Amino acid sequence: MGPFAWIAGHPFAYPLLEVLHIFGIAALVGNLLLFELRVWGVGAQLPLAPLAQLSLGVALAGFCLVAASGLLMFASQPTELIANYAFLVKMGLVAAAGTNAAMFHARGGVARLDRVARAQTALSLGLWIAVIIGGRWIAYL
Ligand code: HEM
Repeated sequence: MGPFAWIAGHPFAYPLLEVLHIFGIAALVGNLLLFELRVWGVGAQLPLAPLAQLSLGVALAGFCLVAASGLLMFASQPTELIANYAFLVKMGLVAAAGTNAAMFHARGGVARLDRVARAQTALSLGLWIAVIIGGRWIAYL
């Protein structure tokens, strides 16, 4: 029994972590969707740079909340989750989405929205949706 095992059986702690996880997902994916729609030309009257600064800033804060709550949930039952195929696939997808985001910004980010960058934003949305599917599937395996 690890130091965080009490969380898994606690009547409030684990559900509260799931609530924080879902709130973080909403902030992350909701703001990425807003930014990516603008990159694809939706809401073209909105100035891109300030919109990107706000939406990507909130998305990053959302990811930090998701990662913190997710790691605590993981630490409460690591053996079970390591054996859960959906959890492993989801973590692989989180790594792929993170790598795609890092490459987008390394290429110049908002200052260089060429065809490759737009393709990366489409890939980003697809990967985060796949992460959500993987996360939801954890409970069914
Ligand atoms: C970054 C590290 C992350 C870790 C360590 C992590 C870990 C977890 C764990 C342990 C669960 C609980 C499984 C259960 O008991 O049912 C979970 C659920 C979930 N995760 Fe994550 N997660 C992470 C990131 C994400 C991200 C980035 C997303 C979406 C963009 C996401 C989406 C979900 C969803 C949709 C659920 C199901 C929530 C529910 O049914 O209440 N996770 N995650």
